[in-house]
Parts: sequence; C-alpha cells; structure tokens
Amino acid sequence: MKSCIFFLGSSLFFSWQLSAAENVPNGEALYGKYCSVCHSISPPALNAPAMRSIAALYHRKYQQRSEGVARIAAFIKLPSVKNALDQVAISRYGLMARVPATSKETQAVSEWLWDQAGGILPPVKGR
Ligand code: HEC
Repeated sequence: MKSCIFFLGSSLFFSWQLSAAENVPNGEALYGKYCSVCHSISPPALNAPAMRSIAALYHRKYQQRSEGVARIAAFIKLPSVKNALDQVAISRYGLMARVPATSKETQAVSEWLWDQAGGILPPVKGR
C-alpha cells in the first residue's frame, strides 16, 4: 500500500514536471518570479522604476517591437551603464543585479515587458 501511494505520488510529480517543461514561459508569471521584488508594474516605483515606465521609455526610443525587445533582453542579460537607457534611474536606485533567468525566460519576459506600455504611455516623470 505504501509503495503504491509512493508510485502514484511520484508519477503525478513527474507528469507535473513534464507539463511545466513543455509550457512556453509566461511573461507575467516570470515577472512574478524574477522581477516583482524590485519592480512594480505601474507607478509608484518600488526599488526600481515601474515596468510600465520602463516600457514607455523603450517605446519612445525604438519603433520596432523586435528591436525594443532585443534591447530589453540585452540589458537583463547584462545590466550595465552601457546597455541602459535610463542613467538617472541607475544613480537613483543603483545598477540592477543580474537575474538568474534562462535565455528563453529572458526573451519571454522582455516581450511581456515591451507590451506593458499598452496604448497610453505614462509620463516618464515620477519614475
Ligand atoms: C534586485 C532588484 C531588481 C530585480 C530583481 C530586477 N530589477 Fe530591473 N532594475 C532594477 C533597478 C534598480 C533598475 C534601475 C537601474 C538600472 O537601470 O540598472 C532596473 C532597471 C531595469 C530596466 C531598465 C534598464 C534601462 O534601460 O534603463 C529593465 C528593462 C529591467 N530593469 C528589467 C527587469 C526585468 C525584466 C526583471 C525580471 C526578470 C528585473 N528587471 C528584475 C532592479 C531590479
């Protein structure tokens, strides 16, 4: 009986793991996992500029979604003064720490972040 329960439990566990691995990473869930400790989605800012303010900044700088997403991903992979658009935020909050996300996760969360600007761009002031 005991081993039967163990078998059932472990097969459930492994099927759960398999389905999690098959899923395309969800941007918002990744935000919750890796980013929400420091970034709120909308202003007011937490320990870093709000995601919508960052998205607005990238939309102002880049017209193409593919380029904007690539720039966001490059910054997440290697946060640096050179890769950042917002130098004021660095002096205010300090440079962002590296996040232990895989390349796939970084791509997915960058696409999600780009889409946070929505139709209406919030003012950059008050970030
Ligand atoms: C430990 C806190 C922390 C975590 C976790 C964090 N960030 Fe940041 N992030 C910051 C801070 C502080 C800044 C502002 C200073 C800077 O640009 O380095 C920032 C700035 C940014 C910028 C703007 C860079 C620019 O061009 O000016 C992006 C994009 C960004 N974060 C994305 C993310 C994403 C996506 C995640 C989650 C995968 C994340 N951050 C997780 C602290 C964090």
